[in-house]
Amino acid sequence: MVTYDSTDKVLFSADGFGKFGALDVEEDWDREARRYYIGIVGKYGAQVQKLLKAAATLDIQTICPLHGPILTENLGHYLEKYDIWSSYKVESEGVMIAYTSVYGNTKKAVELLAQKLEEKGCPKVVVCDLAREDMAKAVEDAFRYGKLVLATITYNGDIFPFMRTYIENLTERSYQNRTIGLIENGSWAPAAARVMQGMFEKSKNITWLENNVKIMSSLSEANEAEIEAMAEELCK
Ligand SMILES: Cc1cc2nc3c(=O)[nH]c(=O)nc-3n(C[C@H](O)[C@H](O)[C@H](O)COP(=O)(O)O)c2cc1C
Repeated sequence: MVTYDSTDKVLFSADGFGKFGALDVEEDWDREARRYYIGIVGKYGAQVQKLLKAAATLDIQTICPLHGPILTENLGHYLEKYDIWSSYKVESEGVMIAYTSVYGNTKKAVELLAQKLEEKGCPKVVVCDLAREDMAKAVEDAFRYGKLVLATITYNGDIFPFMRTYIENLTERSYQNRTIGLIENGSWAPAAARVMQGMFEKSKNITWLENNVKIMSSLSEANEAEIEAMAEELCK
């Protein structure tokens, strides 16, 4: 629910157009507002789209959110970002690689993939160790970029808990319209790829890469060829 003041042409936008962070800190609005939007509002894209349609009929000169700075200039920029985020469109070209690894072998595969993507001129490669880095940033980047690679170990017949939490964070925010590739590791009965893919069963418009990677404990020569093929497909 928002309020429009037609005298001063102010939109009091509640959670909309807000961001994390104190007002006396100089920081990029897009980054913090995206993290805020995806984290807090991400599930409600349809409602935001409806609101944007209503807002398009108004003469708005100032946006006053509940959190973050009052917006007075270049309002088209913020409205455009909200349109992209709430319609689950790809915002930036690039590949987000999210991984978990206990002994480092899955991590090695991820590093090799990132290196190959960079060599092939991929516009942006973001790598995140889900057990050690900020989960909210990893979620934000999955929504920002068009392609996602998930790499994890098989863990007691399931997937490593940080990867499970990560995928739940994506699916509960209606993650959609993206390409996903899978790297799985398992020492005796790999099941991670099947489990990860199953978690997206209800997600709309997911394109699965044809070239996935199956590691049995540590990287083999065949795995290196698989990673090369995955990088090639991601760069198409
Ligand atoms: C606690 C734990 C549970 C695991 N459970 C399984 C399992 O159920 N099935 C399997 O094939 N491998 C299992 N593994 C092996 C991992 O899937 C993986 O092959 C191994 O950790 C090497 O990958 P990494 O170097 O990236 O950690 C397990 C490993 C750990 C540490």
